[in-house]
Amino acid sequence: VDNCVIVVGSANIDQVFRVARIPAPGETVMSTGLSIARGGKGQNQVVAAARAGASTIFIAAIGRDGFGERTLEGLQDDKIDVSLVRSTSAPTGTALIAVADDGENTIIVEAGANAALMGLTGADLKAIGTADVLVMQLEIPLQTVAEAARAGRAGGTTVILNAAPVRDLPRELLDDIDILVVNEHEAAYLSGAEAAYHLSAEVVRGLAPVVIVTLGSAGSVLYQRGLDDVSIPATKVVAVDATGAGDTFCGAFAARLAEGASLEDSLRFAGAAASLSVLTPGAVPSIPLRAAIDRATRLETQSTRH
Ligand code: RIB
Ligand code: NA
Repeated sequence: VDNCVIVVGSANIDQVFRVARIPAPGETVMSTGLSIARGGKGQNQVVAAARAGASTIFIAAIGRDGFGERTLEGLQDDKIDVSLVRSTSAPTGTALIAVADDGENTIIVEAGANAALMGLTGADLKAIGTADVLVMQLEIPLQTVAEAARAGRAGGTTVILNAAPVRDLPRELLDDIDILVVNEHEAAYLSGAEAAYHLSAEVVRGLAPVVIVTLGSAGSVLYQRGLDDVSIPATKVVAVDATGAGDTFCGAFAARLAEGASLEDSLRFAGAAASLSVLTPGAVPSIPLRAAIDRATRLETQSTRH
């Protein structure tokens, strides 16, 4: 299959509470509205890749419950291959999300079935080894991430790790990663820096051959060994809900890369996709389609070429 992006990762149902502002510890605030939508970093990324035009395969674990059914149906609506998704006796993963009026959020994830995504099968490994691009995050067991990365590396698949939510990573795993995508905080954590403003380009470059640091509305920075850093600006938009914007970025990036586009071109495309996703509420519901991303990328290119 051409332009094949395979995602190994989490699927959640997001319980999204709209609030005027995020409550402080010990504080009670009233919500101005509750919505339930599909999410989970893995699911958001595979949907983003599919809507950006890639042929997609998802390896994930869901529960044998209503949320699991809703997840499968939704994935199939986006023409995502779900033959490697397993149903487990654990409940479908759930996220409790508070979204404030300024679009910022806080998220708590209960892994549920995602924790049961252990041990890849022969069919999983074959699919990973024959895809163009593999994308992973860290909401599933680390052992599975490492196993998938190894299969990707062995098969010549481009291995992308979005190290979110961030945690300590064994060097053996990092050695199998071609492209690491992190935000400033994750980059600081992985490079042992005290804070994002102490980030050293040298240390960041040491994490993987290609490291992309996402800066939200400020775009992203591309670090490559032996080359100068490249800043890729993003379109300034008024965020309604930033949930899943980073995932949309990763999925769209992978899709464009699978088409054979350059890193910089793929990052511009990914930035446009992420900017579009923050304009509407919810994770999966807000992920844009290819035509909209192309339109936004064209506008972006015109406005930055004076
Ligand atoms: O990155 C956003 C996602 O994080 C949400 O959809 C939620 O499910 C958590 O996984
Ligand atoms: Na959104």
